[in-house]
Amino acid sequence: MTVDPASSPAQQLCDFIDRSPSPFHLVETVVSELAAAGYRRLDERAAWPSAPGRYVVVRGGSLIAWSSETALTPADPFRVVGGHTDSPNLRVKQTHDRAFEGLGVVALEPYGGAWLHSWLDRDLGVSGRLALRDGRAVLIHVGEPVLRVPQLAIHLSEDRKGVHPDPQRHLDAIWSGAPGRFLDFVAERAGVDPIDVLGFELMTHDTAPSSLIGAGHDLVSAPRLDNQVTCFAGLRALLGATPTEGVRPVLALFDHEEIGSMSERGAQSDLLATVLERVVTTAGGSRDDYHRAVAASICASGDMAHATHPNQPERHEPLHHIAMGGGPVLKVNVNLRYATDAVGAAEFQRACDAAGVPLQRYEHRADLPCGSTIGPLSAARTGLLTVDVGAPQLAMHSARETMAAADVDLYARALTAFLAPR
Ligand code: CO
Repeated sequence: MTVDPASSPAQQLCDFIDRSPSPFHLVETVVSELAAAGYRRLDERAAWPSAPGRYVVVRGGSLIAWSSETALTPADPFRVVGGHTDSPNLRVKQTHDRAFEGLGVVALEPYGGAWLHSWLDRDLGVSGRLALRDGRAVLIHVGEPVLRVPQLAIHLSEDRKGVHPDPQRHLDAIWSGAPGRFLDFVAERAGVDPIDVLGFELMTHDTAPSSLIGAGHDLVSAPRLDNQVTCFAGLRALLGATPTEGVRPVLALFDHEEIGSMSERGAQSDLLATVLERVVTTAGGSRDDYHRAVAASICASGDMAHATHPNQPERHEPLHHIAMGGGPVLKVNVNLRYATDAVGAAEFQRACDAAGVPLQRYEHRADLPCGSTIGPLSAARTGLLTVDVGAPQLAMHSARETMAAADVDLYARALTAFLAPR
């Protein structure tokens, strides 16, 4: 299934998200759309072609895609849209099978800052990848409801006020009416012999389809809006931008943002710097040309932003309310939890002006700890001038999140203009 170009951007986003339950599947979704547009997948272990073109490199749940078709010299600047492919969820522990009163129970644990209560009483599927004895890694996606983490009956709770699940004790899932080996089930669904599964990364996801809700179908209800919206909008931007002569547009999507980006493929890794350097050197440039290119480049680090909550507006900075449907968001934090500085802010404002898109400016309350993004980490690793941006949403890190349908298109148009400055 590919995204139907005739449907609205918000409906296309829903299809995109439902195809992408894990970072690995997200990368496959993006690569398949890029391949349809003529992007060629390169292997990091191989020599790369010197000819200008459209290329993509995958490292696990991360990818870098770029076009060098309109480059004039090896030292030409890059325009980068960055984002992350992972979302908080519940993952399967290495040893996970438990029998309880005749039921099959599988042990789960939180990945990242999952809003735990939102995962209770949901129909969950499982996805991820299996590493096999023969050296292959295969993706698995069981899209129908298999797992469920039931909450306690209200009559049995201590305070009846609400649930605060304990990450160790309260998140195991029922997956069968009889005890069994969960990995055997997963391996069978992947078409492999369980005895050949030597490693796995398995995670759960909400199986209810993403949908347009509200009386006018103008709201999006979906899992993983943070941050698959940026992956979707960034992909649209890369495919939709009419490249500017002398500029190389780049899409950089990283795994592991929700747990600190510290891995071989996270935003703290050498992935983006290495790929950009190889783009320069395979085009005949020197290491000095690479440093010249980086010095002239800019990155828009995209991640979702907090729309002001209708029930608790007092939790937001009063001078920086963010409207759903009000357009993309510039994220500023003087203590650099966001990478934005004055020069980057002006550059993104210029892109929004060129696209005819309104721009909202966000600051977190000074008395609340501010979240972060790949922006500061990637900026520190690569030396790229970086501006943090996003699109408004509610219920960040819930198993089910909400945004305005209009913001999908506004965000994509802003990123498109950013990648191809005029
Ligand atoms: Co995020």
